Amino acid sequence: MYNTLVGVDISIAKSFLEKGELVAIPTETVYGLAANGLDSTAVLKIYAAKDRPQFNPLILHVANLEQLKELVISMPDACEKLIAAFSPGPITFLLPKSEVVPDLVTAGSSHVAIRIPDHPLTLALLSALKFPLAAPSANPSGYVSPVNSDHVLQGLSGKISYVLEGGPCRVGLESTIVGFHADEVVVHRLGGITIEQIERATGLVVSLALSHASPTAPGQLKSHYATAKPFLMGDVEQLIADQVSKKVGIISFKQSYLSLHPKLEFILSPSGNLDEAAAKLFASMREMDAADVEVILAERFPDQGIGKAINDRLERAAFNEKTTSRI
Ligand code: TXA
Ligand code: MG
Repeated sequence: MYNTLVGVDISIAKSFLEKGELVAIPTETVYGLAANGLDSTAVLKIYAAKDRPQFNPLILHVANLEQLKELVISMPDACEKLIAAFSPGPITFLLPKSEVVPDLVTAGSSHVAIRIPDHPLTLALLSALKFPLAAPSANPSGYVSPVNSDHVLQGLSGKISYVLEGGPCRVGLESTIVGFHADEVVVHRLGGITIEQIERATGLVVSLALSHASPTAPGQLKSHYATAKPFLMGDVEQLIADQVSKKVGIISFKQSYLSLHPKLEFILSPSGNLDEAAAKLFASMREMDAADVEVILAERFPDQGIGKAINDRLERAAFNEKTTSRI
């Protein structure tokens, strides 16, 4: 057990990381659980603290293009364009790894996932370090990602040395993960940068590889981002009809369902702004999970821009429920 400290001191974070210890770091997407990405012993602590299977690889975080280039053996033009357009920002690149990257980080893959996060504290920390930070989301494996330091402590207090306090995460959904194939950009996980933005910046066709059965990005396993309580997604009016005797919590985009008498309702953006809804999504899922409701219902969001990533997370949260009801 560790006495987990919380603070804004980059030099404390730096010294724990240099000793091979775990530090939670703020990013614009979600909080990350960081360790020295070139030190397998430190990286093993991440898997242990999260109870994460070792076949699920980790993203390396760097401060700039120069640091990134030290970790890869090549980079396609399309990647350079995306970095110029969106980094620092919520996008992760799958690139052929150099031999300095431990196999434990990539789960044996020849490709490493790398991104430049957009948070001033974490960028300053990464600039001061001589190594990249391996960092998955700072939550116990399978649970909803943390978008503030309280969420981190709820899941990992006592298991890590320090939480670098950087306030609430601006984007609130994880980074978009992209790989490159000949003249194509392949999106492996929907996230903070939209398909439309990637198409505009590269002029290339974007294809999706979100296969759930045999995931190329194992975090694409369907039962992910799950609340402890039953979570159902779809037409709220229909769903609530099956839950007559239950205390229901509803998560919606801009519409109120108070006429259906839920116990609790969270409207993520009354003005209909998908970015605002994305930023509030994970906190609202966690709050519903802790509230006095028995089942959580969520609307399908508009399937455009970051709405696609919101629907992806809701579908994964709802997946356990669907399998159970099918059996
Ligand atoms: O926004 C984010 O990306 C956050 C912040 C902390 O940076 N990180 C994050 O990490 O979401 P994590 O571990 O929760 O999700 C990373 C995803 C997983 O689905 C993992 O399987 C995939 O990236 N991944 C990592 N390295 C990979 C690799 N070498 N090849 C394929 N998929 C990889
Ligand atoms: Mg995660």
